[in-house]
Amino acid sequence: MSSVNDIRSAYLDYFAKNGHEIVASSSLVPKNDPTLMFTNAGMVQFKDYFTGRSGAPYPRATTSQKCVRAGGKHNDLDNVGYTARHHTFFEMLGNFSFGDYFKERAIELAWNLVTREFGLAKDRLCVTVYHEDDEAFGLWKRIAGLPDEKIIRIATSDNFWQMGDTGPCGPCSEIFFDHGEGIPGGPPGSPDEDGDRFIEIWNLVFMQFEQIAPGNRVPLPRPSIDTGMGLERIAAVMQGVHDNYDIDLFKALIRASVEATGVPAEGAQRASHRIIADHLRASSFLIADGVLPSNEGRGYVLRRIMRRAMRHAHILGAAEPLLWRLVPALVREMGRAYPELVRAEALITETLRLEEIRFRRTLARGLTLLDEATTELSGGATLDGETAFRLYDTYGFPLDLTQDALRARGIAVDTAGFQSAMERQKAEARASWAGSGDTAAETIWFRLRDKLGATEFLGYSAEAAEGKVLALVRDGAEVASAGEGDSVSIVLNQTPFYGESGGQVGDAGTIETESGAVIRIDDTQKRADGLFVHIGEVVKGEVKDGDAVRLAVDHSRRGAIRANHSATHLLHAALRKVLGEHVAQKGSLVAPDRLRFDFSHPKPIDAAELAEIEDIANDVVLQDAPVVTRLMDRDEAMHSGAMALFGEKYGDEVRVVSMGELGGKTYSVELCGGTHVGRTGEIGLVTLVGEAAVAAGVRRVEALTGKAARDHLELQDKRLKQVAAALKVRPDEAADRVAVLVEERRRLERELAEAKKKLALGGGGGSAAGDGIVEIAGIRYLGRVVEGIAPKDLKGLVDEAKKTVGSGVVAFVGVAEDGKAAIVVGVSDDLKESRSAVDLVRIGAEALGGKGGGGRADMAQAGGPDGAKAGEALQAIEAALTA
Ligand code: ALA
Repeated sequence: MSSVNDIRSAYLDYFAKNGHEIVASSSLVPKNDPTLMFTNAGMVQFKDYFTGRSGAPYPRATTSQKCVRAGGKHNDLDNVGYTARHHTFFEMLGNFSFGDYFKERAIELAWNLVTREFGLAKDRLCVTVYHEDDEAFGLWKRIAGLPDEKIIRIATSDNFWQMGDTGPCGPCSEIFFDHGEGIPGGPPGSPDEDGDRFIEIWNLVFMQFEQIAPGNRVPLPRPSIDTGMGLERIAAVMQGVHDNYDIDLFKALIRASVEATGVPAEGAQRASHRIIADHLRASSFLIADGVLPSNEGRGYVLRRIMRRAMRHAHILGAAEPLLWRLVPALVREMGRAYPELVRAEALITETLRLEEIRFRRTLARGLTLLDEATTELSGGATLDGETAFRLYDTYGFPLDLTQDALRARGIAVDTAGFQSAMERQKAEARASWAGSGDTAAETIWFRLRDKLGATEFLGYSAEAAEGKVLALVRDGAEVASAGEGDSVSIVLNQTPFYGESGGQVGDAGTIETESGAVIRIDDTQKRADGLFVHIGEVVKGEVKDGDAVRLAVDHSRRGAIRANHSATHLLHAALRKVLGEHVAQKGSLVAPDRLRFDFSHPKPIDAAELAEIEDIANDVVLQDAPVVTRLMDRDEAMHSGAMALFGEKYGDEVRVVSMGELGGKTYSVELCGGTHVGRTGEIGLVTLVGEAAVAAGVRRVEALTGKAARDHLELQDKRLKQVAAALKVRPDEAADRVAVLVEERRRLERELAEAKKKLALGGGGGSAAGDGIVEIAGIRYLGRVVEGIAPKDLKGLVDEAKKTVGSGVVAFVGVAEDGKAAIVVGVSDDLKESRSAVDLVRIGAEALGGKGGGGRADMAQAGGPDGAKAGEALQAIEAALTA
């Protein structure tokens, strides 16, 4: 038997052998198409190659593409589980030619694969062609040797394939497998074609046109080929079963759900097992591609799928959350082909578990309400929209879940009533905003948020994407267009641009319209609960409301921001390790060129502590540990010890970012909505460049990472080398040399001060005795002007001099370099009663142009601005002594 994994490989290998590049499946979230909710066919990632908007790097390609059809054009959710072939998630095998081969080779390759490689009996096969396509008809006849009655012309849109309302399209030709007479149904185009006997296994699209808008179709630059073979269907054929849910892959998933619930796979609960198996795949792959449950857009489709499966887990009687326990079985089956599943296993498991815990809280009560509301109803009746809305609003029942729950009893739901109840609630919410006191400038954002819904953020997994302009705002008012030179704020349906929040600055980059207009985006801000506003200037052309655009985040700037954000987490944890658990975040700035982190701590951090903090952070950088993001229940996250910001608003669901390991434990776990590196190694290096106080009890560290850190350290190194060169030593000797020089300088300063003192005491204009002491009115007196002595040293000199003089008076005037003077007078104890130093110093100070003076009777000091009058000051004191 060929397993699903074998068939997938065989398909890809066959086309690789035939000159096709094997290309990995693209994400379920299309990055190149704003009109498409989920990737729904293999050709989606190649759309621009078909239209010629960008050149294909290879002429031929082959893929096994993840697809989801659950919302939008191809919506299969309601039937899933009840039919043999409906899925929300499926794999599409495809081969593509970008202007290389066309119909003939495509038919040849397809026919050889199914009949030779896969060994399907020719008499079980038939094909369809678009009714006007004689060429395809002739080719099937010649290449496959099929008789005319097995080449069926179909006139309907079944044989004209379109990706969506717009995009590449063309006539197609389908290969059908006949499951045999035992199953009712007729060949395609026959009255009973809707039976299940003839199953389409492969669609070959002859891509020839591009649908620009409804009614406007233009030829493609070069005819191309796009094919799609449902892997589940071909596996059923090759495994000799009729039902997709009987192939090995689904059997394994259903077995896991049977084992976990103890409810047999067949029998009354068959559909529930199938729904769980199908929805498990869709949910897990969507989560792996960055979609998380929410109440908007893609997140809401995911939530609907998850909750539908969870209701069926409830039907199976599961007492505990079930879906998350089936993830290992899925990873076992599909992880090799899709490594993203393995990488995201923890995120998938926790997201499923959390959603099921939360949903189970209201599920039973909601079902009771539903029972009560419908006891009186019988088949063919309709449940009122109000009740359906209440189930939605209060119990988290998506509309289709209510429909699904009533399906078996043949009860419908009044969807129009449901919508009007929803509208009424929105109107009430609007009215309450009006009175909430928001400033006029904000009102426009609330209005737009209400009208347009929240912007879908794609930036956790992408830096470029397509989007659609939903609103243009200039000077606080909505405008229809903006031209060159205009400053403009743009709101789109989805964006990879991060809106400033949690300390991380908003992204910058460019937005380009299809007509070639370019808008430089300088900043992105979040407004009114989830509206992303792109702020910038039109640098070329004109942008209009409704334009389809390409968004590109400035990659290197974002890269630097990522590194700085992850480094902030590393530093936060290191600060707590080194300084203690009292360290709590008080604020942060994560910019491209630096990071800043404010935290509670009562005193400066010393150099040794700073070095240790830096060291720990860099050790985790060197671990090159993966940075893991999980979505958790807020309370659960808090209990798990994740660090959160006090006073910050968190929703019910939070992102928890963890990285690194220390002493057998996860090194850092934080609640964070920011963008981060994939692995800590990408940070490169963390270096602290500043530590200071910002407020009482709050310190701030600043740091650099990556290239900025390296540049900083290089500059430091250069400076050290300059210092070493000036000192004429090697850099490693510079510190010792500087220490020696500083010591030497201290010694020299001391010696110089000594010398000056000696000079002051011993030399200068003096008496015959040479010591300068004179007798005035019987009092021994020493008066001297000294230069180059600091005022603070003057007192010491006077003390010394007093010892030499013995009984008497000493008066020294020191003149500083700036011309100002200080004066100190000392009087021996025996004279201080009659000649107070304070009086004498005041007299001297007056001569120096100063006032006052203070001290004691034996020692006083004063100053004055006029150093040139130093001699006069001394004379004035002498005169006072004679008085
Ligand atoms: N794009 C084609 C399809 O989805 C092959 O059927």
